[in-house]
Amino acid sequence: MPDTELIIALDVPTMEAEREILETLKGLPVHYKLGPALFTGAGPACVELAGKYGRGVFLDLKLHDIPNTVKRAVEQAARLGVFSLSVHASGGPGMLRAAAAVPGRPKLWGITVLTSFDEASFARVGFRAGAAETVDSLAALARECGLDGVVCSPNEAARLRAALGPGAEIITPGIRRAAPGAGGRADDQKRTTTPREAAAAGADYIVVGRPVLGAPDPAAEAAAILEEIS
Ligand code: C5P
Repeated sequence: MPDTELIIALDVPTMEAEREILETLKGLPVHYKLGPALFTGAGPACVELAGKYGRGVFLDLKLHDIPNTVKRAVEQAARLGVFSLSVHASGGPGMLRAAAAVPGRPKLWGITVLTSFDEASFARVGFRAGAAETVDSLAALARECGLDGVVCSPNEAARLRAALGPGAEIITPGIRRAAPGAGGRADDQKRTTTPREAAAAGADYIVVGRPVLGAPDPAAEAAAILEEIS
């Protein structure tokens, strides 16, 4: 089994806070994830900053638009030099293929179903299949259209690994080192998995935010996670 890598979610409000956590974690072999909040506020400068510290930057913008618009955004992400970029697999084959065809593009990771969705939300937006079936078909679609991997719950990782084969990259958030109640914290994550369990289920990258950012010693927490997945 290849090593699972750690992506730290830089869910902080400002570039000052970003710089502070990057300095705290300096030297650790991790990637950094930037989301729409900091990117909208600070722009490409926040990517450039994280790029100076980490192995690579995962720009988690979860793009979903017409093929030409997404293609242009992927081209810009390629210029920024990010390591990976997320798009919604439900954007459909046209959008996914247009994104995958961009020369020199970052890795593209497809979002299947947001973990904030419950069955009632499913019905409300008009998805006819249940959550698990929708995750499976969107993951297969993402791979058919040339995406490098899929973002999913760690509870779905083993199933998707079996369905997609060894070539697909699997990225899982929802990671907590100790089980809630045993000294750990779940925050708003409904079902969590430990780093070791996610690695054993076949995750290539695990995404961890608050357990590191909110730890009394963030570098020690990140090092402990790296130790678990190595
Ligand atoms: O703080 P925590 O470890 O829960 O952060 C997980 C990160 O992964 C956050 O940036 C969150 O937006 C993201 N994420 C998630 N669940 C998904 C997709 C992304 O928690 N299904």
